Amino acid sequence: MTPAQATCLADALKAGHGILALGGPALNAVECTIGLLEQSGLFNAGRGAKRQLDGVQRMDAAIMEGTHLEAGAVASLEGILHPITAARLVMEATDHVLLVGPLASRFTRHFKLDRHRSTGVPRRLSYDRTLAKQKRLTRDWHGTVGAVALDRFGAVAAGASTGGIESMLPGRVGDTPLIGCGVYADNRSGAVSMTGIGEGIIRLVIAKSICDRLAMGKSPTVAARQQLRMLVSRINGSAGALVLSPDGRFAIRHVTPYMAAGWWNGTGLPIVRGEFP
Ligand code: GLY
Repeated sequence: MTPAQATCLADALKAGHGILALGGPALNAVECTIGLLEQSGLFNAGRGAKRQLDGVQRMDAAIMEGTHLEAGAVASLEGILHPITAARLVMEATDHVLLVGPLASRFTRHFKLDRHRSTGVPRRLSYDRTLAKQKRLTRDWHGTVGAVALDRFGAVAAGASTGGIESMLPGRVGDTPLIGCGVYADNRSGAVSMTGIGEGIIRLVIAKSICDRLAMGKSPTVAARQQLRMLVSRINGSAGALVLSPDGRFAIRHVTPYMAAGWWNGTGLPIVRGEFP
């Protein structure tokens, strides 16, 4: 983690906590925290989103609240600075959960969300060459951003925003906008936000599975560790999880080489680290 990323994470944690401290909802804290990370350009989300193999940034995001189990998500969104706000708009301004592609982008333009002009140059793609090469690619660690929060009313919320992974085919969508895979929140079990290689996270429906373990009485640490171990042992997956239970216990666990993350309860300084063994 670079010093700039550490500072940005700490500032985002302070901003999110500031909302909670004033009695604001967990949903607002999650959106605000993720929005600052999207805006920074320092992570793989919003301004800093990775490009797909045709040179275009297509972003995914989701947000969910645990009181009424309302959720919203966007996938393959182009040209928008804050996909997390777009996801929240889907949740609050429509009866749907997920909007995708150019029509999702058009939806967000209707609400005049801040635009983000990508500096990349779109390029043509040879599928023959790309598919042959893709099998040999080493996938690097990538910084999807996410947040979970608990407010003073006992409501939890979770969100995530991403530009995807290295060497994605155009049109690829990962776990982040799929409710139950990349994000889940339920006041009766907890809130989870995932980072990592989405293909594995999707196949084991990790966020909801961790919440189910919480509902069975497991602690956040145990629930995350068990599900992440299963991800590795069953399908050699790679991921990290932010896990929060409705009583305020939380865990940050990962089976990726490292994971820049932090927490703050309003006392002392925010804790930000690059790994959580
Ligand atoms: N976890 C982000 C992605 O796979 O797209």
